[in-house]
Amino acid sequence: MSRKIAITGKGGTGKTVLATLMIHLLADGKRKVLAIDADSAMSLPYTLGIDVPRTVSGVRSELIGSAQAKKALAEGGPTKSVMKEILAHGEGFDLLAMGRPEEPGCFCTVNDLLRFGIDSLADGYDIVIIDGEAGPEQINRRVLKHIDLLLVVSDMSARSLETAAGIIRVAESYEEGARVRQAGLVLNRVRGDAPQGALLGKVGAEVFGSIPEDGAVNRCDREGKSLWGLPQDGPAMRAVLGILEKAQ
Ligand SMILES: Nc1ncnc2c1ncn2[C@@H]1O[C@H](COP(=O)(O)OP(=O)(O)O)[C@@H](O)[C@H]1O
Ligand SMILES: [Mg+2]
Repeated sequence: MSRKIAITGKGGTGKTVLATLMIHLLADGKRKVLAIDADSAMSLPYTLGIDVPRTVSGVRSELIGSAQAKKALAEGGPTKSVMKEILAHGEGFDLLAMGRPEEPGCFCTVNDLLRFGIDSLADGYDIVIIDGEAGPEQINRRVLKHIDLLLVVSDMSARSLETAAGIIRVAESYEEGARVRQAGLVLNRVRGDAPQGALLGKVGAEVFGSIPEDGAVNRCDREGKSLWGLPQDGPAMRAVLGILEKAQ
């Protein structure tokens, strides 16, 4: 059985940075790692430094209008092999990317197809790290279901903590069969500013970890470099190692 960890939270809070550093630390060849870019903004391939020639969205566009493909999807099997085919292969991990927003058309949404992709591929891996879309939509749509650990990222702003609280509330309302087993808050870009106790209390989840502001992370972003070369002993990487140790 694979362990599924999903990362969500308000936009711009550091979900992709957290996912990238987790994948980086896990991809040491000792376990099979599946990375999922569930955000249509497609940032994860850049921060991981990997090319993604095919996406779930692209597959959907190819399938629209094909009765044969529709039947194949309903039957499950062949679509699983398509999902395998579109995986990108990195150093010590595979990546499935949702891709850009869908074109109009019926049949099924990209999120439905992505859910199917995650469900059908997960069993072949020891750990699955999902970089989710901002906000509660994918929680509402049960794209992120059967999750062992939901990490909700927030900076220290009241709005971002409120978004986190909303996401955790939706996750807790999941029916038995789709249960998120554990949810935790990850505070990011902490600069020694004291967490606002009253607001934190309202979030309704324990603080699972804190990641400091790390100049090297920002620099990579500004220079358009992946985070793959970030030093192992930098502040953000060390904090994420602590989060991973707790998460496993
Ligand atoms: N701990 C950190 N230290 C410095 N910069 C950070 C840190 N976490 C995130 N950032 C920067 O914040 C921006 C948003 O991060 P990102 O992971 O893309 O957010 P999200 O995926 O939630 O939209 C990026 O420019 C990233 O480099
Ligand atoms: Mg992102």
